Amino acid sequence: MRLKSFELATQDIASVDVEALHGLSLGVEWPHRPGDWEALRALGHGFAALDEIGRVFGSAMWFPHGDECATIGMVITSPRLQAQGGGRWMMERILQQCGERRLILNSTRAAYRLYVSLGFAPQATVSQCQGYATPEAAAMPGLADAVETIAPTDLGEVAALDEAGFGAGRPLLMVQLARTAEIRGLRRGGRLVGYGARRTFGRGTVIGPVVAESEEEAVALAAALLAGLDGHFVRLDTRQEMGPLRTYLEAAGLRLFDTVRTLTRGAALPTVEPGRPGVYGLAAHALS
Ligand SMILES: CC(C)(COP(=O)(O)OP(=O)(O)OC[C@H]1O[C@@H](n2cnc3c(N)ncnc32)[C@H](O)[C@@H]1OP(=O)(O)O)[C@@H](O)C(=O)NCCC(=O)NCCS
Repeated sequence: MRLKSFELATQDIASVDVEALHGLSLGVEWPHRPGDWEALRALGHGFAALDEIGRVFGSAMWFPHGDECATIGMVITSPRLQAQGGGRWMMERILQQCGERRLILNSTRAAYRLYVSLGFAPQATVSQCQGYATPEAAAMPGLADAVETIAPTDLGEVAALDEAGFGAGRPLLMVQLARTAEIRGLRRGGRLVGYGARRTFGRGTVIGPVVAESEEEAVALAAALLAGLDGHFVRLDTRQEMGPLRTYLEAAGLRLFDTVRTLTRGAALPTVEPGRPGVYGLAAHALS
């Protein structure tokens, strides 16, 4: 396609120089490090838009979660090229690749109108809570005893719980978490009812996914995952409104930084309600 004087071609994102992708995301002030791009590339598909001399001007990715569901993310147009139709052009290509899958994405303000015009409907607001963890981030009394460390070789129950909460299996994500994350589980009556993971991302550590059967259990998992991180930069993205989890996070130094909106196409987002597994902490904006 032709955008003013630019002729853009696409290239499979897997073969694009990661430093160029990093430059693209830095240009829109996203915190991803090259390693975060690598981790996402290992989980999904997509392309970059390049000009005639190979400069990267855009990116878009999708992440299959089984045959029926996918998430979309890393949709970026370089500021020099925004508002000239590039975002819509990239999204139309990505939607073609996603086929008939039901879709989930987390939209910034800048992208909201674009996604709604492509048939996505708003479902929830995501609060990006982050900051330097304080000593108040100590493990909570009570439920703390129910929290255990989960070995990377032992993710069968975790994968089943994640699928129940997220609404689709995320096997590739589970394999990646086993390699890169610390994982805690929460057991009630011998049954795993919650799990949470922490890994390096962006400016520090991200806590997520967190799947639990109640907000109190999500707090216990977040507290266990914050242990030892006093003074470190930590982020947790949640769709919970102000309540026990957000109150705990604020006390622990993770304050509201920004919001995005979760939009879906093809089916509603699974609800989060006490007594059944729900997503209390996102894996990543691109992975929901
Ligand atoms: C969101 C983004 C990808 C849109 O890319 P783009 O190339 O500007 O998109 P387009 O030119 O195809 O515009 C698509 C629609 O969005 C609107 N739009 C573009 N930039 C906008 C902005 N900053 N604020 C509000 N609307 C905007 C356009 O008006 C257009 O709507 P229309 O077709 O009804 O006129 C780009 O702004 C971007 O990379 N932003 C920073 C990163 C980001 O937020 N990514 C989205 C992640 S969910």
